[in-house]
Amino acid sequence: MINIPKGTKDVLPADSYKWQYVEGIARDIAKTFCLKEIRTPVFEHTELFLRGVGDTTDIVTKEMYTFKDKGDRSITLKPEGTAGAARSYIENGLGNGVLPAKLYYIIPAFRYERPQAGRLREFHQFGVEIFGAKGADTDAEAILIADSLLKKLGLQVKLYINSIGCPTCRKAYNKALREFFAPHLDELCYDCKTRFEKNPLRLLDCKEENCKKINANAPTILDHLCEDCSAHFESLKSYLALAGVSYEINPRIVRGLDYYTRTVFEFVSTSIGAQGTVCGGGRYDGLIEELGGNPAPAVGFAVGLERLLMLMEQTGVEIPCNENPTVYLAGMDADCRKKAFEICVKLRGNGILSEIDHMERSVKAQFKYADKIGAKYVAVIGGNELEAGVMNVKNMATGESESVAFENAVEFFKNK
Ligand code: HAM
Repeated sequence: MINIPKGTKDVLPADSYKWQYVEGIARDIAKTFCLKEIRTPVFEHTELFLRGVGDTTDIVTKEMYTFKDKGDRSITLKPEGTAGAARSYIENGLGNGVLPAKLYYIIPAFRYERPQAGRLREFHQFGVEIFGAKGADTDAEAILIADSLLKKLGLQVKLYINSIGCPTCRKAYNKALREFFAPHLDELCYDCKTRFEKNPLRLLDCKEENCKKINANAPTILDHLCEDCSAHFESLKSYLALAGVSYEINPRIVRGLDYYTRTVFEFVSTSIGAQGTVCGGGRYDGLIEELGGNPAPAVGFAVGLERLLMLMEQTGVEIPCNENPTVYLAGMDADCRKKAFEICVKLRGNGILSEIDHMERSVKAQFKYADKIGAKYVAVIGGNELEAGVMNVKNMATGESESVAFENAVEFFKNK
């Protein structure tokens, strides 16, 4: 017996409607906000993520699925969607077309993490990237898209926002961080010692208990923002107020990817504990240039679909299932079954969800099966019915039965 790889999950037939429901709503909301879908490969050149996501991040240093292909190229399964979307934006000259380029995607992503509830090695994201617009109204729009999705799905989450500034204010902040952490250098974990040298902002993202304790008193970026970044953050707040979205400023949010500038945000639920962050995003004005494109501002986010579904289940959000057949056609003998088959073909041809027996079951067993698959009606064709050209239709919810002529079947079931 070969088992599923650790940290991955099958979506079984009994659950797939939940995924379709969530993905359907995500697509509808994307349409409302005039976003267009982009599909990029599941794997990219490793270099894209080294440069894009950042070589001091946990994702790049510890979690990537990287391998050599048969042509000796280093390939990586995408650990997130932004770098691939940015690569495609540059490569396909989307910046020369209609701006802003407002894109969304639904993708699998891969990170070699320690699996636990809400943390997988293969997971799925609904993501949004808006390229070409620098104003904070666009940051607010990105937040609003995520907010609309989470609200539409009936979830209670808290929005945290922060600004991590631009390279100019980051320089001053990095200096302040180094000054703060220098006396604690010996107490920091191995990774944090490297972070101290290469990218002190990453120190704030460490998950080690001891480092977290030291971090608690570190200076905050909000005290080091330059005038422009400060104005941008104020503007974001005013747009969020206009949209009626409530938020909390959390200066500890720095995000686990290196491309962010200015706005960063997370939507967090308290009910799924450690993996409570269902959505994360922010502005990344330097990434396109970093990847070799003409400079272009950008902002986006991604929602983790497994975490979303887990949260919906935990909080008892009902997901409607409209996959149950409208009618199950049961035939008594070989001739009746043929008639059932013929009517079934006609019903399906008219878009009516219909099912028949494929297992040569008795009528009684067919009824049982129809009940199991949630058929709304069971239409029985026996010898007498076949002769009279009718079927005996039972409403499974009320138990009431009525006779329906074969030629009226489509009309009868059309709006049931
Ligand atoms: P991220 O915060 O790394 O950001 O991931 C976004 C969301 O993906 C998380 O909030 C979480 O719900 C989900 N997620 C991440 N890792 C896992 C995992 N191992 N298992 C299950 N779910 C997970 C990004 O990926 C950025 N690309 C978001 C972005 C887009 N920023 C700008 N544009």
